[in-house]
Amino acid sequence: MKQTKVIAIANQKGGVGKTTTCFNLGAALALEHAKSVLLVDLDPQANLSDYLGYGSDDGFPTMTHLITEVATRNTINSDAVKHAIRKHNKIEHLSYIPADINLANAETAMSMTLSRETILKRILTAEVISEYDYVIIDCLPSLGILLINALTAANELIIPVQTQKFSMDGLTALTSLVEQIRATINSNLNKTVILPTMADNTVVSKSALRVLSESYAADLSSVVVHKSVEAAKSSETGKALCRTKSKLGEEYIKLAAEFERGVF
Ligand SMILES: Nc1ncnc2c1ncn2[C@@H]1O[C@H](COP(=O)(O)OP(=O)(O)OP(=O)(O)O)[C@@H](O)[C@H]1O
Ligand SMILES: [Mg+2]
Repeated sequence: MKQTKVIAIANQKGGVGKTTTCFNLGAALALEHAKSVLLVDLDPQANLSDYLGYGSDDGFPTMTHLITEVATRNTINSDAVKHAIRKHNKIEHLSYIPADINLANAETAMSMTLSRETILKRILTAEVISEYDYVIIDCLPSLGILLINALTAANELIIPVQTQKFSMDGLTALTSLVEQIRATINSNLNKTVILPTMADNTVVSKSALRVLSESYAADLSSVVVHKSVEAAKSSETGKALCRTKSKLGEEYIKLAAEFERGVF
């Protein structure tokens, strides 16, 4: 049995680099370290699924089916979960569970059910995740029930923070939610990494980085992700940044190495 790291990537602020980090950290762990990685799309926008090359309904279950099943029947067949896991068609060791727009309806169904915080945890059972070294969950930009499910299933959290003006807005709301979840339903959620993203040479970016290091010194990642057009290119082509010989690729390689060294 593997000691699986389950990492949620969250920030209720939109467009801060959650999905880019989810795919490229996962791809770097799979490609550079031959680690077995499962990426979970928990966002109805399904950007991660697009990035991974998931087209449209292929007849197999998605996150929407799995969540709806648990929310309405309170249980799930482990075969359904296995069928929901696709292998990436180019990157060895990388698998994923896609989402689709109907996940928004599943979220509504979730809010009507008991023990609604543990639905994802009941899908990602010890048996399911034991095949993977890393399970990385891409969250939607909201503080709702899907995010709470991710934080209940995870043992680590990465908060990408765009180094811009107002970048820290909302961070207190998120970190206090994390505290509440740790104190009540998930004492295993014991590590938070603040990851500065889209850093550049502007005064605003430098000052945001300084404020982050003053306020979150203990949790701040030593790897800073810089702003680069390579990010958009990568999501367009589906090619992992670690294979693009770019500065951004190097940064995601470093981030993966920090996880592998046990720094995070
Ligand atoms: N380091 C970067 N430099 C420049 N652009 C980036 C960088 N990282 C991500 N981007 C771009 O910024 C946009 C938002 O990134 P991404 O989708 O990863 O954010 P997100 O936090 O997942 O957004 P959402 O909250 O909508 O899910 C995308 O167009 C992406 O290509
Ligand atoms: Mg996203």
